[in-house]
Amino acid sequence: MLEGYAPETAGFVLPLLGSGMCVLDVGCGRGSVTLSLGTAVHPVYALGVDADPEQLAFARTAARRASVSTVDFVAAVPHALPLPRGSVDVVFSHALLEHVPAPLDVLAEFARVLRPGGTLALSTADWSRAKLRPKTANVDAALRGQYLLHRRAGGDPFAGRRVGEWVQRAGFRDVRSRARHHEGIGYRELARSVEERLAAAVQSPVGERDPQLASAARSAWMWVRGGGGDFSQCWVEVLARRE
Ligand SMILES: C[S@@+](CC[C@H](N)C(=O)[O-])C[C@H]1O[C@@H](n2cnc3c(N)ncnc32)[C@H](O)[C@@H]1O
Repeated sequence: MLEGYAPETAGFVLPLLGSGMCVLDVGCGRGSVTLSLGTAVHPVYALGVDADPEQLAFARTAARRASVSTVDFVAAVPHALPLPRGSVDVVFSHALLEHVPAPLDVLAEFARVLRPGGTLALSTADWSRAKLRPKTANVDAALRGQYLLHRRAGGDPFAGRRVGEWVQRAGFRDVRSRARHHEGIGYRELARSVEERLAAAVQSPVGERDPQLASAARSAWMWVRGGGGDFSQCWVEVLARRE
């Protein structure tokens, strides 16, 4: 398997892969998990799908450089996949459902492309259970500002809490959920990324007049200039079966 973070993010689905399977990675971003799936122990065919052409260009270059021929990348939105009904064995998605405005529509599309008996494997962030140490008043206030931006963009930063129920409602069977913490970006990198986002928001025409965002941006500025710490995100992993 390629070096990457699949053991962390896709470890729960790797044991379910079998030789010759077709695996979809929806919201694949730069494709690092797709590449790891496509070079998993079993020879599987992995198709990465994302709506962002820049991310896909990056993913295609990475696949070419690694000489991986078992992966492809296509541009599409998650609620309208360019695939026939019942054509894939596994639908995998990491860090997507917390960003989409209509997760049930996306899950209905996942059910459409999965073959009967196929596996759904989702990993969704729950910021309400993220572990940050130290979690100062500035960290708290900056994160509240980030949640506000997340919601205004149509997503739900606490989606991990609800994803199991959404999967049930979408008609999947044998739904199993577990919450797992793992480290991704570090504490300081998170602080810088939150600060950048909030600074950009307060400079936008709408954010300029928003005192809540301005206050969160000041807190993020202080957070970045504070000391180091630890951050691990809570990921809710859901496995389910398409009837
Ligand atoms: C946080 S990234 C995760 C990327 C990848 N799965 C990973 O774990 O490295 C979320 C991805 O979902 C896509 N995405 C986010 N919100 C979306 C939306 N509302 N509709 C379509 N795609 C979206 C983005 O283009 C982005 O690549």
